[in-house]
Amino acid sequence: MRILSGIQPSGKLHIGNWFGMMKPAIELQSQGEAYLFIANYHALTSVTDANALRQETLNVALDFLACGLDPDRTVFFRQSDVPEVTELTWLLSVVTPMGLLERCHSYKDKIAKGLTPSHGLFSYPVLMAADILAYQSTTVPVGRDQKQHVEVTRDIALKFNNMFGTVFTIPEPSIRDDVAVVPGTDGQKMSKSYNNHLELFGNEKELRARVMRIVTDSKSLAEPKDPDTCTVFRLYRLFAGPAETQAMADRYRAGGFGYGEAKKALFEIMQDTLEPFRRKRDELARDLERVEAVLRRGAERAQAAARETLNRARTAMGLDGHGPRQ
Ligand code: ADP
Ligand code: TRP
Repeated sequence: MRILSGIQPSGKLHIGNWFGMMKPAIELQSQGEAYLFIANYHALTSVTDANALRQETLNVALDFLACGLDPDRTVFFRQSDVPEVTELTWLLSVVTPMGLLERCHSYKDKIAKGLTPSHGLFSYPVLMAADILAYQSTTVPVGRDQKQHVEVTRDIALKFNNMFGTVFTIPEPSIRDDVAVVPGTDGQKMSKSYNNHLELFGNEKELRARVMRIVTDSKSLAEPKDPDTCTVFRLYRLFAGPAETQAMADRYRAGGFGYGEAKKALFEIMQDTLEPFRRKRDELARDLERVEAVLRRGAERAQAAARETLNRARTAMGLDGHGPRQ
């Protein structure tokens, strides 16, 4: 099994990203050969400030390494350090029907949100297909919003293999149905675009203030409360073990336990959980050369795999000079 996933460097990571994407990706390290990259080519469709892109790329690298990504087990790299994927994108784009891309929801959604459609935004799924196919990936863990892009990848790979002979492994999406949507401070899905997020590496004061602002109903301290409909509890149980979760649920139901106290308990358990990650991140941030070395080594390993696939695709299409002598 070869597992591959990518994340765009376009904003600070929050605990929704942690439970929904980072933690599952890090756990997959033990199940097969994992590739994880920072999708900075993709981010160019929305981030147009060079320094901001550099900074966000570094932030994602630090966040993942601080949270337990093991670069000996996972090939961790920057997408743009393997420019072979852009050549592969072109080879794939000539077999990609326009209609396939026109049907993509994420493109239509971005246009509906007012983004000016560039060619890059439109052909975004072809670059994503190249990312997946270059490494002969079998399994692609993604959020539900990215499922269609993996299906597009499968269609492109099947068509290419039919036309030119088998070059690509056909990948499967792995949708994390078991991972609940993490609620934000207003009870909706946590997302940086709704500004209801709790940052993974934000400062303590800001985190406390945001936790204290979590929206609850107006039940008085004395009244018994329903834990399952309360955002504070839904966040608490993500961090707590089964016994702590049960104890907290009992306190809700018993009454005499206020939301202020629940928020304090949530803030404390978040602090305890995130503290070791923060320490690790500070340590890494003081040694950026080490981080750079990790990404370079990841890129070398990734590039060797991508080069091999690209050469096979070039040969299959007749881009190898005169080819083997008859
Ligand atoms: P955002 O909505 O903050 O812009 P992204 O769309 O960049 O987040 O998501 C990056 C990854 O994190 C995706 O794999 C996505 O499925 C996951 N993710 C984001 N928000 C949540 C959430 N609230 N709950 C669970 N997973 C999430
Ligand atoms: N498009 C993905 C996202 O926005 C990121 C991504 C780029 C990706 N290439 C990929 C994910 C390849 C999985 C596989 O979340």
